[in-house]
Amino acid sequence: MKLLLVSFGLTLISVECFKPTTFAAPRHSRSCCSGCPICCPTTLAAVYGEPRPVQIIPSVLPADFGKLGADCKALEDAGCDRIQFDVMDGNFVPNLTFGPDTIRWCRQYTTLPFETQLMVSEKCTDAMLPQFTEVTKGPNGEPGVVIVHVEACTHLHRALSSIRAAGGSPSVALNPHTPPEMIENVLDLVDHVLVMTVNPGFGGQAYIPTMTDKIRKIRKWIVDRNLDVDIEVDGGIKATKETIGACAEAGANCFIAGSGLFAYDDMAQGVKELTALAKEGQGLPANA
Ligand code: DX5
Repeated sequence: MKLLLVSFGLTLISVECFKPTTFAAPRHSRSCCSGCPICCPTTLAAVYGEPRPVQIIPSVLPADFGKLGADCKALEDAGCDRIQFDVMDGNFVPNLTFGPDTIRWCRQYTTLPFETQLMVSEKCTDAMLPQFTEVTKGPNGEPGVVIVHVEACTHLHRALSSIRAAGGSPSVALNPHTPPEMIENVLDLVDHVLVMTVNPGFGGQAYIPTMTDKIRKIRKWIVDRNLDVDIEVDGGIKATKETIGACAEAGANCFIAGSGLFAYDDMAQGVKELTALAKEGQGLPANA
């Protein structure tokens, strides 16, 4: 290991951590750990928090809408942690899916927790938030995750508070171009933050790698404020180091997978492989 003595206070930093292009700020990652006192997991945990439990959450967008209930049951049997319903109104995004009744029907097929991502206009959010909060609840009325987009909510603080008041679990989503600062002042209101890693509206798109720094920044805010908030990522997530691995390393712990999971003939195998790579990204053994 090459050691570099720096002048301020004789801090020992491993040269391996200094990427030539990032001399300003060494990029310490959970996987390098060359014994450098800054890279070691305990030090990173102080900065980015202890790794949070990995959750694999399928998006139903690739499912067969003709038998959506049965597909939800298959996802439960495959060992998924929650199911995401992508609500699209053809306005906020250039695609159209379903309303609250479809989600209510699917509840009869599975006891898995639900989450509803509202990719809808502000008018629809304001008018239908109570209905979506209700149908997203668990089989015994447990809070379901209701995700509103910051770009569709002039009164975001009010929308998130109303989800909580209606017995839901509030979450806020950011499109790829949206800076994290847009949600900095509502982090204390949510249980999750959803970082879109593709432009919303369609499945099967490529993961946008520049989203990794946004995840890292939000994770650091959450840890610095000692908040109990999960970071979710959605779009282009596959069982690869470059997608789920990189997001986990940056601080995400909830992973939406559409085409990346439905591509498996045996979806239980898909859940296993996605989980193992996420844990590896967190610097944990696959069977942790
Ligand atoms: C896109 C949806 C995603 C999408 C993910 O707007 O929000 O949930 O279904 O699909 P993949 O994993 O195929 O990118």
